[in-house]
Amino acid sequence: MSAAPVPEGVRDGGALRAALAYLVTGFATFLLMGLLGLHMRLDQGGLMTVSPTWFYRIMTLHGSGMVAGTMLATMGGLAAAVERTVRLSARALWTAFLVYMLGMGFIVLATTLGGFAAGWTVLYPLPALGRVWTLWAAVAAFVGYLFVTLGFTFYCFHIAWQIAVERHGLGNALGWSLWRKTEPSDPRRPRSAVEIIATVVTLQGVFTGLVGAAYVVPVLLKDAGLVAALDPLLEKNLAYLFGHQLANLNIYFAAAFVYALVAEHTGRPWPASRHVAVAWNLVLLLVLLPWPHHLYQDFAQPAFMPIAAEAVSFLVGIPSFLVTIFGALGRIHRSGMRWSVPMILVALGLWGWVTGGLGAVLDSVIQVNQVTHNTLWVPAHFHTYYLLGAAAFTWAYLYDLVTRLAGVPEDRASRVAAWLYGVGGAGFVLMFFLSGAAGVPRRYAAHLPQWQPFARIAVPFVVLLSLALAWLAVDVVTRLRPAWVGAGTGTRN
Ligand code: HEM
Repeated sequence: MSAAPVPEGVRDGGALRAALAYLVTGFATFLLMGLLGLHMRLDQGGLMTVSPTWFYRIMTLHGSGMVAGTMLATMGGLAAAVERTVRLSARALWTAFLVYMLGMGFIVLATTLGGFAAGWTVLYPLPALGRVWTLWAAVAAFVGYLFVTLGFTFYCFHIAWQIAVERHGLGNALGWSLWRKTEPSDPRRPRSAVEIIATVVTLQGVFTGLVGAAYVVPVLLKDAGLVAALDPLLEKNLAYLFGHQLANLNIYFAAAFVYALVAEHTGRPWPASRHVAVAWNLVLLLVLLPWPHHLYQDFAQPAFMPIAAEAVSFLVGIPSFLVTIFGALGRIHRSGMRWSVPMILVALGLWGWVTGGLGAVLDSVIQVNQVTHNTLWVPAHFHTYYLLGAAAFTWAYLYDLVTRLAGVPEDRASRVAAWLYGVGGAGFVLMFFLSGAAGVPRRYAAHLPQWQPFARIAVPFVVLLSLALAWLAVDVVTRLRPAWVGAGTGTRN
């Protein structure tokens, strides 16, 4: 591995350690939740019997745990990437971490002990009306969601605020200063593309967190008997605005790692340029608009909402796709770069992002959605852009960071594990896509015999994926102690 100079701005070892804690805790959560996913697929293939009561608890825990766990890891990676040029507070990062983890603890309790099983996107009034769980279990789940949301909002606020302070204003942090005549050393110029992306996604994050609170708090007030009734359509809109934003933001957060890793491994810098600024400022606006594509079946919605959502669903990917994916491929091409574990994962991630994105765009066409709605096509597209997109980018960053902080060379054999992650993941999501195309419904504990072959074929791919992840996890764990010491000094090799 090439020894790079100590990067500008690595100042607070405490902040880097907090970032590492986010990354490792998120990775561990991901591994555990992945095992729950394997159980569900074994059950759907008829290879194992899980009672429906437990299936839906597991499904709820897997869904919320995966979304929260993967996001936690991505938040850690983003903090580590931003901290290279912007001063972050270790105390603020740890505070957000504790609040977030408290929320995750409530969700574990609500699903395992309380039996809460309403799914990760819970539609009012179902939470409180569950016949197999108590009101307390529903309240515990919603309190959990609230703490996760608050921890996330606080984290995002801290990052956005610190970048704005360092760049003397939010507009400068968003890259608007690139249109002014300034010296490269002018503090108003973002130091890297990562800073612009981080500003955009954390501003979006603050908004998303507040929407989450606006969705959860009224339900809790209703459960406490302080509010007579809520508007179910408004609650559903808020639930999907929050859920859609959170899932989408994870990929946009993780896109920052593509910029950081590609620049570092190809030796071709990826500065904060005007086209990066234009693309990501457009993301700031466009990501907010497509959520009504989850509500095509709700005929009470004003007609303009689904129509506008379909149009924006086509537009939203274009700016970041063009700049990020072509930018990355252009830098990799003929760079002489070595195919290390992080770069294999980045390449897989680019593939998964595009494939999952295309699956999503197809699903957002109203006529197509009439057929694919609530089939396994939906988990197919989001598992693709998560597992083979956002998560792949995040594990690439985690692997790279831990290896650099520990100061050890990469084990060449581990590249096999990175490729196996791709093969296992691709086979697993392909079977979701084929099931969806065949009309197999999502969220069914018991699958009809004619649906079971899809899940049976998926199982060996999930096992392959698990082996690959176990291999990469061993690498990370064995380097963790020296990496922690290295993080304390605030330097990276
Ligand atoms: C590691 C491999 C994984 C396996 C084997 C797996 C498996 C599954 C299965 C079988 C379902 C139920 C599908 C249905 O019948 O509706 C499911 C749902 C889900 N998964 Fe995964 N999954 C994996 C990774 C992930 C990742 C990486 C994420 C997100 C970061 C994720 C998030 C979800 C969500 C949000 C649901 C929907 C839960 C609900 O409907 O309430 N999964 N997964």
